[in-house]
Amino acid sequence: MPRNGDQSFPYRQNSDLFYLTGIEQEQTILAFCPAHPLHKYHEVLFIRRSNPQIETWIGHKLTKQEAKDISGVETIFWFDEFEDQLSELMYYTDSVYISVNENMKYKRFYNDAELRFIDRLKFLYPLHTYKRLNPFIAQMRLVKTDEELAVIRYAIGLTNKAFQRVLKFMRPGIYEYQIEAEIMHEFISHGVRNVAYSSIIASGNNANVLHYIKNNDRCQDGDLVLMDFGAEYFNYAADMTRTIPVNGHFTKRQRQVYQAVYELQRTMIEQIIKPGLTINELNAKARSLMADYLVGLGLIKESEKNDTNKISQYYPHGLSHFMGLDVHDIGTRDEPLRPGMIITVEPGIYIREEGMGIRLENDVLITEDGAEDLMKDIPLEINEVANLMQS
Ligand code: GLY
Ligand code: MN
Ligand code: MN
Repeated sequence: MPRNGDQSFPYRQNSDLFYLTGIEQEQTILAFCPAHPLHKYHEVLFIRRSNPQIETWIGHKLTKQEAKDISGVETIFWFDEFEDQLSELMYYTDSVYISVNENMKYKRFYNDAELRFIDRLKFLYPLHTYKRLNPFIAQMRLVKTDEELAVIRYAIGLTNKAFQRVLKFMRPGIYEYQIEAEIMHEFISHGVRNVAYSSIIASGNNANVLHYIKNNDRCQDGDLVLMDFGAEYFNYAADMTRTIPVNGHFTKRQRQVYQAVYELQRTMIEQIIKPGLTINELNAKARSLMADYLVGLGLIKESEKNDTNKISQYYPHGLSHFMGLDVHDIGTRDEPLRPGMIITVEPGIYIREEGMGIRLENDVLITEDGAEDLMKDIPLEINEVANLMQS
């Protein structure tokens, strides 16, 4: 993506393409043509052709042998040969399955490369049928292999290190961006230059802006700071939220609200989450538990427990999403959970009139009979957090 002048935004590989090839380079296309009579066309990878100028200014681009070694694909062509080779592939197929970003919250408002690619195929081959690859890839990506799990565990471990660093660093008067800098220091000094999403460092009432990423306010004595951040390792995400007091001491009210969020999270992880349930069902369960906590905290009346709008005033988001190569990973909220899937568990209570918002977010692995908390080593229990800060 161009930035300005001759500058580009950093490249980040398309998650489906990375999943299927391990290739991190731009201008890459993977095609399968299982019906082709020649075996060499069953899997074909197109990669960028390098030249001395690219090697001098930008750096090394993969050779065909390197691309083959990384991806396991035997047949490698140059990207600029794609349309020539395409006629070979299209001749032996009727239906073309294409991967596009179908995240429900992504609203397309310009004709991006994915759409232009589809338009071009339809222009060149109008009599073929074009179909969605997404549902098939989703079924593969949702269940993590042992190798993927190991990578995600590393991203989570590094996220833990960054949090422990912040626990020591936190004090009244620092700026939110200084906390972000501590996190980035920990990540980059471990060779991890990417975050899985823009870090949210929200002190006081900034926590009421759910995707607050300005991170430019001062942390005031007596306030809480909501911190939602995660490392991205080998393109896999960690997604964690912790909310801690700027001065290391929770007030009585902060403690009450924290405990409510904490108990709800623990109940969901330790008792509720099981294979077979859907994220929609988890969301509904969490909302009904939340209603009782909101009554207990004096935020809503007993008679308002079934009033969705009232609950949303203090708990305006869902409990869980899938996580993997994308922080909000592929897959729908109607998908029954299966062992090997990873979801987040992130209840929150946001009280604008009291200047606070508390969210606690852990990533969990669905197991045969429940959920394994992948973040069980990251301080969460209120006294543990306070003691670490005070020491
Ligand atoms: N960091 C975005 C989320 O928690 O979903
Ligand atoms: Mn999340
Ligand atoms: Mn998060």
